[in-house]
Amino acid sequence: MRPLIMVGAGRGSLPRIVAEAAAARGRPLSGYVEFGDNPEPPTTPLERLGDAALLDDPAFLAGVDLVVAVQGAARRPLALQLLQAQASLPPLAHPAATISTTATLGAGTVVSAGAIVQSDARIGRFCLLNTAASIDHDNSVGDFVSIAPGVHAAGYVTIEDEAFVGLGAVIINGVTVGAGATVGAGAVVTRNVPAGATVVGNPARVLPPKT
Ligand SMILES: CC(C)(COP(=O)(O)OP(=O)(O)OC[C@H]1O[C@@H](n2cnc3c(N)ncnc32)[C@H](O)[C@@H]1OP(=O)(O)O)[C@@H](O)C(=O)NCCC(=O)NCCS
Repeated sequence: MRPLIMVGAGRGSLPRIVAEAAAARGRPLSGYVEFGDNPEPPTTPLERLGDAALLDDPAFLAGVDLVVAVQGAARRPLALQLLQAQASLPPLAHPAATISTTATLGAGTVVSAGAIVQSDARIGRFCLLNTAASIDHDNSVGDFVSIAPGVHAAGYVTIEDEAFVGLGAVIINGVTVGAGATVGAGAVVTRNVPAGATVVGNPARVLPPKT
């Protein structure tokens, strides 16, 4: 099996979720590639293999599985660069997550402990499904979606690219959360959320843009 290498490191939540999930699967990380202007070291001892220049080396990419732990604005361009370079980017799910055999996880997606992905749900690329989130049957989740801990999405929910769903939010069946939208912590989403909007409350209402 190819070594599993993390891109990025530090005290952010994602690198630690990645390291935990990999170790718990019995496939601990074999090293990391430093990334970013102010790179942080890993929180546990891990070999530094090099900096971002390594990601331009086809020979390196051909021999490893990568998992992108970079968060924020740099995540998307980095992921697209690695896809373009045909890097191997398998999804990574903590063994204490439950993934239906009929669900699919896209490249680079990370699933944290306790999350549940039900039948025929399709999860896109480079998503994070955080602790104990449940994504129910027939959901369609786009790319670069972040689902915070304790979210519950009922059946046939669509969550479009780059949406963020905050802690403990509930999304009723059949609703669409538009691309780039933000669902506030604890919101109860009963209607479609327009792309780019922020919604909060029960029932969730659009928060006016800040002036
Ligand atoms: C929705 C959210 C993104 C809004 O952030 P923001 O744009 O900085 O908004 P503000 O804090 O300025 O709040 C604006 C108004 O919305 C209210 N509000 C903010 N978040 C709310 C929420 N989750 N539920 C209900 N009301 C909320 C505020 O009380 C404030 O109301 P007011 O104008 O009457 O005082 C943010 O509050 C939130 O819920 N983030 C999710 C955090 C999370 O889940 N993190 C996961 C970590 S893994």
